[in-house]
Amino acid sequence: MNQKNKKLSSRKNRVIHTVSLFAGCGGSDLGLLGDFEFVGTKFPKLNYSIVYANDIDEHAAKTYKQNIGDHITVEDINNINAADIPNHDLLIGGFPCQSFSIAGQRKGFDDARGELYLHMVDFLKEKQPKVFIAENVKGILSVDGGRAFGKIISDFESSGYKVKHKLVNATDFGVPQKRQRVFIIGVRNDIKKDFNFEEPSAKRVILKDVLENRKDIDKKYFFSERAHQGLRNANKAFNKGRSQDINSQCNTISTHLAKSSLNGTDPVITVGKEKYRRLTPLEAARIQSFPDNFEFVGSDSKKYIQIGNAIAPVVMWHIAKSVQNQIFS
Ligand SMILES: C[S@@+](CC[C@H](N)C(=O)[O-])C[C@H]1O[C@@H](n2cnc3c(N)ncnc32)[C@H](O)[C@@H]1O
Repeated sequence: MNQKNKKLSSRKNRVIHTVSLFAGCGGSDLGLLGDFEFVGTKFPKLNYSIVYANDIDEHAAKTYKQNIGDHITVEDINNINAADIPNHDLLIGGFPCQSFSIAGQRKGFDDARGELYLHMVDFLKEKQPKVFIAENVKGILSVDGGRAFGKIISDFESSGYKVKHKLVNATDFGVPQKRQRVFIIGVRNDIKKDFNFEEPSAKRVILKDVLENRKDIDKKYFFSERAHQGLRNANKAFNKGRSQDINSQCNTISTHLAKSSLNGTDPVITVGKEKYRRLTPLEAARIQSFPDNFEFVGSDSKKYIQIGNAIAPVVMWHIAKSVQNQIFS
């Protein structure tokens, strides 16, 4: 290889040092790193290397350590000083969404959790990485008539970034789930490149492709006759709303799966006539596009929380690849 090509190739493969806040079990970070397979499709390794990650949840951090790496710290973001964090090129964070979620009370900034994004803003001001990627629920767009989102964007912009956002649906990326999430991407003002969201063109994956195909699913995943009747009484549209069409994509996987009685549009599987069961943790993880070799640590309930909180790795892989190609190449 001549000198010029050598230079180009090393530039192409330059490591992109990344800090991951609110890293949870590592859904976002698996996507960012790549090198995994989901329903027969390979997601090759990308050029990112994670130099620091944090989360407050020790169970999620155990899962993270087992599957991603032991660079995660279990710490409340309120106790972390941005100046103590290693320098990095990319900052990512799916900041907590309960206060913006339609499934929650939607208190926005009136809920202290609504202000956690400000820690990302502080990190950006202090460390000035080239790019940041933030993620949140669809509901963030409409809290307080859109004013809350407007403030979030202008806070990110005032840290020195050109900011773009897009509401994406995991379905379009080949994930068997109707999961709509807002991605916010900022490129530092002095960088002479713009980021543009690309239109995904993935093969559609349906629920049937990822359900556990075995007869001996543990009884604990089935609703008792009484619980089932309760669900029916509580929601007359039970069959229509929650019982999933296995030839389509699944409703959004949320942390509610950890609750003994599901609510809202939490997905339920119909098995035979009039029999309903919840998703197993393995199915929930697959619906979020985790590969089967990703092992979740903890009880079922802790697993459902980690899975429901995660950024779908396949969606993150596509976004991270676009960022790598457009900004870091
Ligand atoms: C939307 S989830 C992020 C999921 C993660 N990016 C993934 O893909 O698996 C938000 C995370 O923020 C964490 N969190 C909530 N409050 C926190 C705090 N004060 N400090 C640090 N982490 C916090 C939660 O434990 C949760 O894992």
